Amino acid sequence: MSAPKKLFIKTYGCQMNVYDSERMAEALGEKGYVEAKTADDADMILLNTCHIREKAAEKIYSELGRFKGLKAAKPDLKIGVAGCVAQAEGQEIMRRQPMVDLVVGPQSYHRLPEMETKIRQGEKALDTDFPEEDKFEKLKSRPKAKRGPTAFLTVQEGCDKFCAFCVVPYTRGAEVSRPADRILTEARDLVERGVREITLLGQNVNAYHGAGENGDLTLAQLIWQLDKVDGLERIRFTTSHPNDMMDDLIEAHGTCTKLMPYLHLPVQSGSDKILKRMNRSHTAESYLRVVEKIRAARPDILLSGDFIVGFPEETEADFQATLDLIEEVNYGTAYSFKYSTRPGTPAAERPQVDDAEASERLQRLQALLSRQQREIQESMVGREVGVLLEKPGRLPGQMVGKSDYLHSVHVSDCNREVGDLARVRIMASSTNSLAGELIR
Ligand code: 5AD
Ligand code: SF4
Repeated sequence: MSAPKKLFIKTYGCQMNVYDSERMAEALGEKGYVEAKTADDADMILLNTCHIREKAAEKIYSELGRFKGLKAAKPDLKIGVAGCVAQAEGQEIMRRQPMVDLVVGPQSYHRLPEMETKIRQGEKALDTDFPEEDKFEKLKSRPKAKRGPTAFLTVQEGCDKFCAFCVVPYTRGAEVSRPADRILTEARDLVERGVREITLLGQNVNAYHGAGENGDLTLAQLIWQLDKVDGLERIRFTTSHPNDMMDDLIEAHGTCTKLMPYLHLPVQSGSDKILKRMNRSHTAESYLRVVEKIRAARPDILLSGDFIVGFPEETEADFQATLDLIEEVNYGTAYSFKYSTRPGTPAAERPQVDDAEASERLQRLQALLSRQQREIQESMVGREVGVLLEKPGRLPGQMVGKSDYLHSVHVSDCNREVGDLARVRIMASSTNSLAGELIR
């Protein structure tokens, strides 16, 4: 028997790409591929790419450039590009980097095994369709090997919102929800393999409306079904749109003990003028009202957000409105970006904000967000939290895991197993993590 072929996948961008990479590895596993630890060691390299901002997309071409030497040394090496850059720039990738053998969009990766056969015969393979068939149905059920205690599970994909800055509706396609029974089967499989925490993924996860036994389920109804899965200890979901934050989901944050007190709820801007131009279909006020309701249901919830500064026509006053909104919400963590022009999106054609001005605003915004993050982390000191232990720490006897609020916690003197859910007293806060001790 010949030695197994080795596959190296490098993943960029969002958590959905992390999930997709796992599924692609499983699909190619059927063709005898095992994981390569490094690109140097691989028979096939796949880049699972992100197109959300210009920098992310450009990175792919420079990364591909670096593989030239590898390919020269090992002519049988196959190189593929998957994900959202593949979807958006398919042909262009093959033109700019002729050594690329395979390009596969996010909706077609169930076809990877056939594509692999084709490229092994020396042909090129390109598939950026939005096929009728459902890739999840076409993928075989997942293997049973043991795995770490946390996992992502895609429940909904695509987006119909068409924010004026965003490529997702074009790269991931229209919004589709997976049927509930498939998700539950996948969740049970994951739990059997050692998973204790599942993060439900979707570009608009709270717009989930997958088929159930008696009609469509909301995300909250799906969460309540998952709540019944024995051995599953924690449920999270991301990313939510403020307009789809329905009452049953808000309520679940107060009543479902497996649902963790953390919510990623992007607002993008605090200025109603900019929100309108972004086609966000909510206002600063309506966002704040949603936040208020969530905090009424779960007062200790940690909120996280996404912000874009320097969106076309953003004035200093608009930017100030964003700072005001941040002051009002008080975020535990946040992701903030300078607006990046994406060809083909409506905002790309509009008058752009001066780049130096946008950079300066981003700095001010990040200073405020960092202060809030630090203060909220410091407020954890002295509190008792749940920590799901994920791996040994660097110090002897130490273990590392995530708190209910998704803070990284280093637990000292921790003679427990990976996958245990420990009760921990937080003793100290540092820049990006907390330190704590087991409550015995
Ligand atoms: N420029 C900057 N940031 C963007 N995002 C999406 N599109 C752009 C863009 N063109 C940000 C949004 C979104 C997050 C995933 O990325 O804040 O919520
Ligand atoms: Fe992009 Fe807006 Fe859809 Fe989020 S809601 S994926 S920002 S278009």
